[in-house]
Amino acid sequence: MAQQTYRLPDDFFFGAAMSGPQTEGHWRSGDKLENLWDTWSNLRIEDFHNRIGSYGGNDFTNRRHEDLVSLKSLGLDSVRTSIQWSRLLDQDGNINPAGEQYYHDLFADAREVGIEIFVNLYHFDMPTYLFRRGGWENREVVEAYAHYASKAFRTFGKEVHYWFTFNEPIVEPEQRYTSGYWYPFIKDYARACAVQYNISLAHALAVREYRAAKEEGYLHDSSRIGLINCFTPPYTHKNPSKADLEAVRMTDGVSNRWWLDLVTKGELPQDVIDALNSRGIELPTRPEDKYILADGKVDWLGCNYYHPERVQAPASDTDENGIPKFADPYVWPEAEMNTSRGWEIYPKGLYDLACKFRNEYPDLEWFVSENGMGVEREDLKKDKNGVIQDDYRIDFVRRHLEWLARAIQEGAKCRGYHYWAVIDNWSWNHAFKNRYGFVEVDLEDNYRRRPKKSAAWLKKVATTHMVE
Ligand code: BG6
Repeated sequence: MAQQTYRLPDDFFFGAAMSGPQTEGHWRSGDKLENLWDTWSNLRIEDFHNRIGSYGGNDFTNRRHEDLVSLKSLGLDSVRTSIQWSRLLDQDGNINPAGEQYYHDLFADAREVGIEIFVNLYHFDMPTYLFRRGGWENREVVEAYAHYASKAFRTFGKEVHYWFTFNEPIVEPEQRYTSGYWYPFIKDYARACAVQYNISLAHALAVREYRAAKEEGYLHDSSRIGLINCFTPPYTHKNPSKADLEAVRMTDGVSNRWWLDLVTKGELPQDVIDALNSRGIELPTRPEDKYILADGKVDWLGCNYYHPERVQAPASDTDENGIPKFADPYVWPEAEMNTSRGWEIYPKGLYDLACKFRNEYPDLEWFVSENGMGVEREDLKKDKNGVIQDDYRIDFVRRHLEWLARAIQEGAKCRGYHYWAVIDNWSWNHAFKNRYGFVEVDLEDNYRRRPKKSAAWLKKVATTHMVE
């Protein structure tokens, strides 16, 4: 795209995304229970990059006020984080007073600093005692989640305007139950589909709880509820076969339409369910579910965008683990790669997504809830003053914002942009390998924060809404 200045709307959130389990640390204080990340860290710390487990987060709990001030000083108006279920409730589903206080303090700090806080209720952080009762495969856990959501709405309803039920609900079925990449390393597609289905119900039940709590006056009239997912626009060969196009359709169906239909229509795409059934996969449905799912419609959607999906017709029906395949990856020769993370950089994908939302879901309001670039060994990129020279990050964000601004000019109902993660944080089993921040966290110096070169650029864009 030719260099020119793009303008984002005035009335547009510009902020940061992060999560409780990746920042808070303090995993054992305040009567917090273990979640699966703590359990995995305890069982096999060697699975974590440089043996850094969940325990410390990025020291946010100790630096909360300082971090919020720093985000504000970068011109950001909003921050999304998550409540940890394992911190807020005890094993009997009652409020843990120390956990409640923890989040009251966080919201009070955000208010004092002048940051709008967006609160998500679940970010891959299943409490371990619930996982031992079957996790998302068990309907009782689905109901326990709805109960947790209800407690959160009723406890913090006057402190938070923007609520989200889940972050990337597609990821646990994928990482924990299909690829077996995350603890407890399950590779069973039927179980993965049951988890995806039950999370969809959990989302809808939480929205139902939200509406009830609002009706009863626990929430602000102006509050909103949403769901956040990662969306991957699928592409295939230039001259595709019918089978390539079918691979695109199913990839889009499972990754994107499943969630878009749930949050806009209150139902799941029948063609995807039929395709699963045709492979012998039956979802654990009950007659009452369609009424539950009907409550899954939201006020707006969070769209995490990192990379597209390049697919082609699968060479076989199943993979080596017997998992049904609907598509094979296709290596696009022109792909620009972020080699640290192995993800393709394709800013136009965000524009294509925005057009898809506008054309296929015209009433849907949404915002970019995550977008970012994680890079390894940024310590080698320091100048003589010790400042990381991350021009690639400026380039990455600028190009995404340009395509986004263009989509908005063409009618996309996008209401904001949150960058993941403005301050470096802990990335699951990759720990601190790939750094996303505009602000460095120095692990050699007690988590000290230091702005990278890109921080000044971010500040200019966030305060002017001009992308140059
Ligand atoms: C998103 C998640 O998928 O991507 C975050 O919501 C995650 O939790 C981010 O940290 C970046 O991915 P990763 O694996 O590099 O940390």
